[in-house]
Amino acid sequence: MDKNSINNIFDKIRPEKLDDFIGQERIVNNLKVFIDSAKKRNKTIDHILISGPPGVGKTTLAKIIANEMSANFIATNAPALEKTGDLAAILTSLEPNTILFIDEIHRLKPVLEEMLYSAMEDFNIDIIIGQGAGAKTVKLNLNPFTLIGATTRPGMLTPPLLTRFGIDIRVDFYTHEEIEKIIIEKSKILNISIKKESIEEIAKRSRGTPRIVIKLLKRVWDFAVVSSKKVIDLEITKKALEQLGIDNEGLTVEDRRLLEIMLKNYHGGPVGLQTLAISLGESEDTIEDIYEPFLIRMGFIKKTSRGRVLTEKGYKFLGYKEGDTLFEN
Ligand SMILES: Nc1ncnc2c1ncn2[C@@H]1O[C@H](COP(=O)(O)OP(=O)(O)O)[C@@H](O)[C@H]1O
Ligand SMILES: [Mg+2]
Repeated sequence: MDKNSINNIFDKIRPEKLDDFIGQERIVNNLKVFIDSAKKRNKTIDHILISGPPGVGKTTLAKIIANEMSANFIATNAPALEKTGDLAAILTSLEPNTILFIDEIHRLKPVLEEMLYSAMEDFNIDIIIGQGAGAKTVKLNLNPFTLIGATTRPGMLTPPLLTRFGIDIRVDFYTHEEIEKIIIEKSKILNISIKKESIEEIAKRSRGTPRIVIKLLKRVWDFAVVSSKKVIDLEITKKALEQLGIDNEGLTVEDRRLLEIMLKNYHGGPVGLQTLAISLGESEDTIEDIYEPFLIRMGFIKKTSRGRVLTEKGYKFLGYKEGDTLFEN
């Protein structure tokens, strides 16, 4: 396969139109209305905040919105923006009818956030020219644009920034049916043959997350190809998932380690985030963004004011009951 056709496959895996975005019906239907309305009024669409756990389609939705609006799409992420000059340079160079996508917007520095307030509200920014006593503030007008911010932590956004987004989209984990539909669609695109039982099995273990389901599908396909199978069947699916360390509930080796550490080292909790991060050798962000949302959704752990605790369901999953304590030296 040449490089172009590989790129084409990867392009195709990302839906380009709202109609190709699987599931999340309410969000899709609302977006259709907002997009239609903006087009009919010949205006840019209102600023949009898209929040949700990693891999649920935030970036994809932002690109789809730009496509549907026939708008330019400029993407950056908050940690890459260091100085006010970085953001000012982007904002002042936006052509009319551009969608500016800022990923991880909860990480924006306060001074940059302040610059966004007037940019979003009045399409202008104040910049300071010169230094010391000779410094003066100059107002620069911007072309009308739409800001789309994406975040895994909407709770970390300040109220002034939050209120400037006219449209607030919360993308949650997908239902089992939606995930099955994604497997069927992506199999078609990637030219993969797969049996119904395998679709169900992969869906069950994909944590309600499109990015994970696509990854699992590709890896299971690798195992099928190597075993010279033309179709992904249940046998190869189970073997592949076991080899990959993904259990029946979709938990990875790391997820199980987190639960075991809570049980064995902290008597089931409560344990603080920082302590847990050190024990696991992971960053607090990784725990909060990647492990916890799913473990909380599964009902294995919960957050309390004193820290994280293992629930009864969590104990049961590990083969113990609440109150059991294990000590490890
Ligand atoms: N609803 C969906 N329908 C089809 N594919 C999806 C959907 N949501 C996400 N995907 C696919 O899953 C992958 C991860 O999506 P992405 O937009 O990067 O997630 P996020 O930005 O939330 O981390 C991409 O390959 C994307 O094409
Ligand atoms: Mg993204």
